[in-house]
Parts: sequence; structure tokens; C-alpha cells
Amino acid sequence: MNKRVNRVVLIGTGFVGSSYSFAMLNQGVAEELVLIDLNREKSEGDAMDLNHGMPFAPAPTKIWYGGYEECQHADIVVICAGANQKPGETRLDLVEKNTRIFKGIVEQIMASGFDGIIIVATNPVDILTYAVWKFSGLPKERVIGSGTILDTARFRFLLGDYFNIDTRNVHAYIIGEHGDTELPVWSHADIGGKPIKTIIDEQEQYNLADLEQIFTNVRDAAYHIIERKGATYYGIAMGLVRLTKAILQNENSILTVSAYIDGEYNHNDLYIGVPAIVNRNGVREVVEFSLSEEENEKFSHSANVLKKIKDSVFP
Ligand code: LAC
Repeated sequence: MNKRVNRVVLIGTGFVGSSYSFAMLNQGVAEELVLIDLNREKSEGDAMDLNHGMPFAPAPTKIWYGGYEECQHADIVVICAGANQKPGETRLDLVEKNTRIFKGIVEQIMASGFDGIIIVATNPVDILTYAVWKFSGLPKERVIGSGTILDTARFRFLLGDYFNIDTRNVHAYIIGEHGDTELPVWSHADIGGKPIKTIIDEQEQYNLADLEQIFTNVRDAAYHIIERKGATYYGIAMGLVRLTKAILQNENSILTVSAYIDGEYNHNDLYIGVPAIVNRNGVREVVEFSLSEEENEKFSHSANVLKKIKDSVFP
């Protein structure tokens, strides 16, 4: 019997999509990767360019340019298509433009008979993940946004750098909107199991002001990168590969993705960045931290900002 082949379809081969394809090939995550884009030439060129690197990859990944019919047998469809932020634009400025584009994309995906998991990367990712859920009719756990997966990675990198600790031993989370209202969960931030707040109380070379500056640098990172190079793509692409791997390898890993909340954190009918257990079936469960009063207030502010936008698109 033929072993089931892991197939991922990527929609949108711009900076983020191309970086995702490159990272997928270099990490050998899927057996098949199909590239779809309005710009057929670009996607065909990407497929050719990536295939020529195959001898250097850890495992073979069949990569080709295809049409939406290829979604029928896909395990995951990743949507990176749409307009991205220009200097000075917020992510929420992109709502109207990208929601319109997404309606057409999702109709074509579902017309193929697709019945897998959709990952959304395009901004504003929390609103667009809700839109994909509405447009597709898929169960809420099988529509997942990249959410604050990159923000959490930025947070762990900067904390690891500050404390001179391997980022893999830094457990800290950014939740809320993937955007200006996101928040750090200091009440559940630890290094090797030792609360960060305890570390700064015990060791005078560390202080609260530095921690707050680290969070500010995380929240505003995209603006600083966009000012310098016009877009961000490597970090988000690696975050998307991490999420793809957690699904395809049925990991049950906890990742801060944009997941549907239905009462968790005292809000509902919303996609927003929260810690979630991710496996082959999508989001198994939203992990609910007992937040501090200040964190609860900040999360509610973030949720209400998203809800206002979401309700304007889906009254
Ligand atoms: C960023 C984009 C992915 O935060 O929103 O870099």
C-alpha cells in the first residue's frame, strides 16, 4: 500500500512564500510542495530554482507550480498571498484589501474538494484567519493563523540574548493581536523553570526597565525591519515551517498561534494569538494561563480592538 504522502500547497510566492518554500526544502518537512501564485512565471522559476538545490537538502521534496486542483489531496494549504505592510502602515490597515482577495482564494481552495488544514500568514493575520474560517466552512480547529508565533520567537531570542541563555531554555509567550496591542505574559515567563521576575530580584545586573524595553523591541520589530529592508520574511517563514511540522508530525506542541477562542480568556467568536496545542488535526486545545490583572486587561484591550475590526467585516 502506498504510504500517505505529506502534501503542502503554498498560495502566494512573494517574499514570505518563497522564504517558506526555501525553509521547507532545507528542513525536509514535506514530501510534496505545490506553488500557486497569480504570477505563474515567478512560481515556475521558484520551483525550478528550489529543485536544483534538492541534492543539498536533507530529504527529497517534490516541488512544482500547480493550480488550485492540487489542493484536493493536500494535507495543508498555507496562504501567504495578499498585500503587505508598507512603511508607516499598520497591519490593520490591510483589512479591506486582503479580505477581498481572500474570498476568491478560499473559494478556489474549497472548490477542489480540499478537506485539510489551512494556515494563514497574511496580515492582519487574526482578522484574515477568521475570514478564512467563515469563507471555508472548515471546523474552527482546522483554520490556524501564524498569530504571535514570530513575536514569541523574537521575545525568546531577545530574552536569551539578555540573560545569555539558549533560547530553547527560555519559556516566555507573547499573546493577543499580532500587532500593536500584543502583550507579554510575564507571569508565566521562566528560564529553565526559574521565573524571570525571580531572577531579576536576585541578580542586580538585570532589571525591569530592560525587560520592558525588550518587549517594546519585540512589539515594534516589524516596523524597524520594514524601515530597513522593506519587508519581513525570514522569521515568519521559519515560524510557518515550525507550525507546518507540528501538524504533519502530529507533535502536540504548544505554539502561540491565532486560534479560535470560545470563552477562553473571557472572550469568544474571535481568532487571536494564544498558546495552543497543535497536532495532525489542527488546534487540539487552547491553553488558558491564569493571567495577572494587568495581563487580563491588556488581553481584553487587544481582543476588543480585533473584535471591532472583525465585526466591521462580518457584522
Ligand atoms: C512581522 C510580520 C510577519 O511581524 O507581521 O514581521
